[in-house]
Amino acid sequence: MTTLPSVNWSYPTSVRFGVGRIKELPDAVKAAGMKKPLLVTDPGLAGLPMVADAIASLKAAGLDAAVFSDVKPNPIDKNVEAGVAAYKAGGHDGVIAFGGGSGLDAGKLIAFMSGQTRPIWDFEDIGDWWTRADPAGIAPIVAVPTTAGTGSEVGRAGVVTNSATHTKKVIFHPKMLPAVVICDPELTAKMPRMITVGTGMDALAHCLEAYSSPFYHPMSEGIALEGMRLVFENLPKVVADGSDLEARGHLMSAAAMGAVAFQKGLGAIHSLSHPVGALYDTHHGMTNAVFMPYVLQFNKPAIEQKFERLAGFLGFKGGYQGVLDAVLKLREDLGVPHTLSGLNVDDAKRELIAEMAIVDPTAGGNPVELTKDGALAIFDKAMSGEV
Ligand SMILES: [Fe+2]
Repeated sequence: MTTLPSVNWSYPTSVRFGVGRIKELPDAVKAAGMKKPLLVTDPGLAGLPMVADAIASLKAAGLDAAVFSDVKPNPIDKNVEAGVAAYKAGGHDGVIAFGGGSGLDAGKLIAFMSGQTRPIWDFEDIGDWWTRADPAGIAPIVAVPTTAGTGSEVGRAGVVTNSATHTKKVIFHPKMLPAVVICDPELTAKMPRMITVGTGMDALAHCLEAYSSPFYHPMSEGIALEGMRLVFENLPKVVADGSDLEARGHLMSAAAMGAVAFQKGLGAIHSLSHPVGALYDTHHGMTNAVFMPYVLQFNKPAIEQKFERLAGFLGFKGGYQGVLDAVLKLREDLGVPHTLSGLNVDDAKRELIAEMAIVDPTAGGNPVELTKDGALAIFDKAMSGEV
């Protein structure tokens, strides 16, 4: 038993939060206007009882559901194309995006592309490119996160890797925001330990980078603060006891909060993590976790003062240094590698990674301008381990 409440939120979309609420999936699917949903997930989850149970509950409620799971850990364009083909062939009328970042993003992108005529790259998150999309061609989405990290369940974008150029692209449209979200912490309880750590550190990176970005967005900044507190307090608890549903629930909230907060911007952690993930297929959150202290040090001149307030809120002594020390200790306690070699990344592509980092859409949110020399310096420190 937990004291975790079961609540409904309507911010930023309709969220049904609480232990056991996955049983409301058929109702949520009907509320989103679907009769024949395509459940999109990754191959690992597709073989687990939670997906079989979801499909059984949908069918029992008279909903003609099918599964599409040909999705890579870092989804590529071909996964989206194959998903759209399956969606059309099956005559579906909506998507259940089910899983971690890959299942959620692939599901959202399949729903988005199901009724578009232009290629996916025309809708990259640049300027007002999203207005090129036909909003009537976007299928409704119900999102069911099974990790606590990406926050994509409450986001309006999907990340997909261009398999020709090996670059990660963000595709954005306001209608990609899921109509209904089910946040059931029980679905995250059996995550492998390192996925719990990596996804939790992704949520922390979202809040940390949103808080650090220089743009004026006090709403997001406030959400980022509480999101960080929830990660610092609860990630060690779930790593110590995977069945602690209360801590898992708080992490699930922190994940959604991170995605709301990063409307304010991300930064160099993500700018470097994206090319490394695209070139080496590393885990996104774990890659962020490795880069985190090196990027904080790079940004120190711009964030030092602001981190006095952050340290005060989090209860860490020593201002900026206190936060940095807490990040280093959290990484160490959770078994995050201190250097990129721990993720089997070498320095053979350092120039390319730096060139990709500075044009990554997240680079503009970094509080210190991310130049190629700056990106190289951060990468080299993440290789050598010198904070
Ligand atoms: Fe992220």
